[in-house]
Amino acid sequence: MDEDKLNEMLGRFVGDLGATITAGGVVIGHRLGLYRALADGPGTADELAHRTGCDPRYVAEWLRGQGAGGYVTYDAEADSWSMTEEQAFVLANPDGAVYAPGAYVLALGSLQAIDRIEEAYRTGAGVGWHEHDEDVFVGCEQFFRPGYHANLVPSWIPALDDVQAKLEAGAKVADVGCGLGASTILLAEQFPQARLMGCDYHDGSIELARKRAADAGVSERIDFEVASAQDFGGSGYDLVTTFDCLHDMGDPVGAARHIRQSLADDGTWLIVEPAAGDTVAANQNPVGRVYYGFSTFLCVPNALSQSGGYSLGAQAGEKAIGEVVAQAGFTRFRRAAETPFNLVFEARP
Ligand SMILES: C[S@@+](CC[C@H](N)C(=O)[O-])C[C@H]1O[C@@H](n2cnc3c(N)ncnc32)[C@H](O)[C@@H]1O
Repeated sequence: MDEDKLNEMLGRFVGDLGATITAGGVVIGHRLGLYRALADGPGTADELAHRTGCDPRYVAEWLRGQGAGGYVTYDAEADSWSMTEEQAFVLANPDGAVYAPGAYVLALGSLQAIDRIEEAYRTGAGVGWHEHDEDVFVGCEQFFRPGYHANLVPSWIPALDDVQAKLEAGAKVADVGCGLGASTILLAEQFPQARLMGCDYHDGSIELARKRAADAGVSERIDFEVASAQDFGGSGYDLVTTFDCLHDMGDPVGAARHIRQSLADDGTWLIVEPAAGDTVAANQNPVGRVYYGFSTFLCVPNALSQSGGYSLGAQAGEKAIGEVVAQAGFTRFRRAAETPFNLVFEARP
């Protein structure tokens, strides 16, 4: 055995073990507003406990662990805690471009299904999206919404041929597999003339999407319906969108065919999928690790719970998505944009 390599492996394990147990602390910090309160200004553990109405002894231990992980900053002389701008950017603003606690809510919510997933490994059975803990739905929204806010309107829509002008003029839009409607609501807010329909096969998600739309004051302009990607209603759409859901489906080709039929002749399908290379080897990296982890608990089991015979997994990549699109009869397919977490494709009939 090579001692250096062994130490490297042990170091990796200690880091990962710390991250795993810290996930609980991050979710607690998110729920109790500890990050937000600390981002407002430095303080001792007692001061932070007072600001948030929490118990000082628990808050002290939370801060010590968060500091050891680099999520907050310790001033040993003053025995006081603070957050750098960068720490606050990633941890304290649910409406910013990145909100890491949302990802941890999703991760912990996914792990609630560990017994069922273990059993599924033995039997090969699927586990549907709708069978998961509610934190999966809410965490998914919290994880993805910041990225949509940062990219959808400023970068992704302008990268598509002719779509921005159509949206401004009042395009007919279907957001398929919309979950809690983060993308649908954002489109309604940014393009007041657009007529929007959002659908998801999971009724619980659609119920929450309706509430979110009402809170945002756009419920009059979005029709949410419980429907699968293979049978949602309406036709003549100028734009159909699928955000991080095509690879979740057991029959993505059936979905793609239905989307093609539902589009206007010059309509556009915007496909947002996780960032991935085309080969397993290309995805042996930290982003691949994150997505393969979620894929094991969420995407592959969901696809296997549906009819169709596909289970693309979250790291499907451009080639696999392009093949689905081509099988459904789309003649044009291109990568329009990308971020560290997403690939953005445009498909036209
Ligand atoms: C990872 S979530 C993404 C949700 C949402 N688009 C977002 O970006 O926040 C995947 C979504 O796909 C939905 N889904 C899975 N299979 C589906 C199907 N066959 N038809 C419609 N929706 C489906 C799930 O219910 C879930 O809401």
